[in-house]
Parts: sequence; C-alpha cells; structure tokens
Amino acid sequence: MGKPVEIKPGVYWVGVNDYETKLFESLWSLPHGVSYNSYLILGEKKVLVDTVKAEYADELIENINSVIDVKELDYVIVNHLEPDHSGSLPEIVKNAPNVKIMGTSRAIDMVKSFFHLDQETISVRDGSTLDIGGKTLRFIEAPWLHWPETMFTYLVEDKILFPCDAFGSFGALSNKIFDDEVDLELFFSESKRYFATIVSKYSKFVLRAIEKVKNLGIDIEIIAPSHGPVYRKNPIKIVELFERWSRNAPEKRVVIVYGSMYGNTKKIAEVLEENINSEGIDTAVYNISYSDISFILSDLLNAPAVIFGCPTYDGNIFPPIRHLVNLLEIKRLQRKIIGLFGTYAWGEMHCHN
Ligand code: FEO
Repeated sequence: MGKPVEIKPGVYWVGVNDYETKLFESLWSLPHGVSYNSYLILGEKKVLVDTVKAEYADELIENINSVIDVKELDYVIVNHLEPDHSGSLPEIVKNAPNVKIMGTSRAIDMVKSFFHLDQETISVRDGSTLDIGGKTLRFIEAPWLHWPETMFTYLVEDKILFPCDAFGSFGALSNKIFDDEVDLELFFSESKRYFATIVSKYSKFVLRAIEKVKNLGIDIEIIAPSHGPVYRKNPIKIVELFERWSRNAPEKRVVIVYGSMYGNTKKIAEVLEENINSEGIDTAVYNISYSDISFILSDLLNAPAVIFGCPTYDGNIFPPIRHLVNLLEIKRLQRKIIGLFGTYAWGEMHCHN
C-alpha cells in the first residue's frame, strides 16, 4: 500500500501500488507490479487528478482522507478514461457528492457512456485554465496517449506536468516515488517495456505532444505521470527516452527469435548469434516458446534487424512466431530488416506474413 507523499506544498501523490495483477491489459507481465498514480492538489478548491483501478478505490479514498476529507473534493480531472485511471470514479462520486468531473469533450462523453453518473461534468477546451484559488490548472489536449480522449494537465505555479500514460512505466513504487529515490535503471527498462507494449503504436502522437508542449514554452520542473516514478531530479530524461523510442532511433542490436521443437532450429540460432557477435554487434536471442513476449517486444523496439527462426508446423508458420509477427504489426514495430531461417527438413517452406 502506498502512503500519500507531498510533492510540493499542497500537491500530494495519493496513488496505489498493484502487486496483484499478473498481466497488464491481461497481456503484459508485471514482475515488479505497477502503480496507478493519482494526485491531490489543494488550493481554495480541492482537485484530484486521475483516479485508480476500481479494485483500489478504498485505498485511494483512504489516502485522500489522510490529507483532507474526501467530501471536500471539488473537481476530479480525467486525463484518460482507461479504467486503470478512471475505475474509481464511481466511488469518488459516491464519497464526494459535490465533485465535478472535468475532461476533454471526448472524455466527458466517455465518462457518461462508461459510468452513467448523474454528476456535473465540465468539458475543457485545449489551453483553457481552471483557477482553484492560489493554484491554476492548464489543460493541454494530447489525443491518443493512449486513447482518443487524452489530455495533459499542467499546474502552473508549481510547474508540474501530469501527462497520465505518457512518460509512464511499469513497476510499483513501494513508498519511494521520486526518480532520485528509486532504482532508475530498473524503471527505465520497465518504461521501455511499457512503451513497446502500450505506447509504441501511438509514437507519432507522442512526438506531436512533445512538440506541442515545447512550443507552449512552459517551464516544467516535475513530470508526474500516472504510472511509475515522479521525475523531479531530471524530468527531461524520460521525455528524451520517449522521444528516442518514438523516433525508432536505431540501436546496434540484432534480435533473434526462434522456435525449436527438437533443437535443430536452435542450433542455427546459436551459430547466427556467434557470427553476429563476432562482427561486434550485440544480439538478443529468444526461444519464443519459453520467453515473455513483452520482453521480446521491448528488445525489438529500436532494433534495426530481427531474424526469425521458424520451424514448419502443420504445414504453416510456428504459431508463437505468427503471434509475434501479428503483434509487431499491431504495435507498428515493423520498419526492420527481416531475416528468416529454418531447417526446412520437411521440404521448402517459406515463412511469410
Ligand atoms: Fe494507464 Fe491507457 O491507461
């Protein structure tokens, strides 16, 4: 369980850590858990930025209650409607009957469709602000990060950007929430895996949002995403990483992914690995049947070349390789040099897709 942490005077992390969910989106493994970060901002009005997954609503409310009485909430800002951030909205509304729900017009439509609440809602326009008495929130539309309704919220006086999924990471926070307190190497690696599995399809929208924020000329001291660490020491670093991953900037690495039922295709993979390494090029080698596909996708991100070792199976492509190729298409991780190998012991059979 996470305890509230004051980020700046009157601004609190009130999120939760999830060590129970084994697969994010029922797809991607969470060996280090995941956090759902929610933030409480106290001006004369009291504001909650994003909520948490429904199962953790009680913990969120307990966290809020340890700072203020949840009944005092005036606004809840919905940066993103995916249920890992909006799932506790009904409980928040139940406990804070006067709270108003704010989001982009698309977000508000989705709130009504998801939750059928009678609560007052307010659609915000791109660039509009909300004066909460002593603090000002500015709303920046940033669609498709990672659904169509998404926006960033910027807290003007404290120079904090709340970008929800953008600049996020897998990995729970275990009561240490800042980039200068956590194992940053682990979080950057988890962030890359998060990017490959959740965000990569929307790379052009990441670049568009970064450009938009740069052009606004706003000063950002802290980036407070809704998953993973709060970046206060070096917030630009995570932006640079997201930019690099989005641009598909090539890294000097070849990924070899193979399936092997009786060890023959594996032998070829080993020879390939040795030969590529002898050229001074790194390899990442995966036996697909025994590998976590989210780690394969993470290694494939920014790798300029991938070589598939693909046994014939029932006269077709080895099914796990087909699944990976399908994911590469869905996640738009396709711009790569492709190599294929196999033993072809059944006769000539080419992998293609
Ligand atoms: Fe973390 Fe797209 O939700």
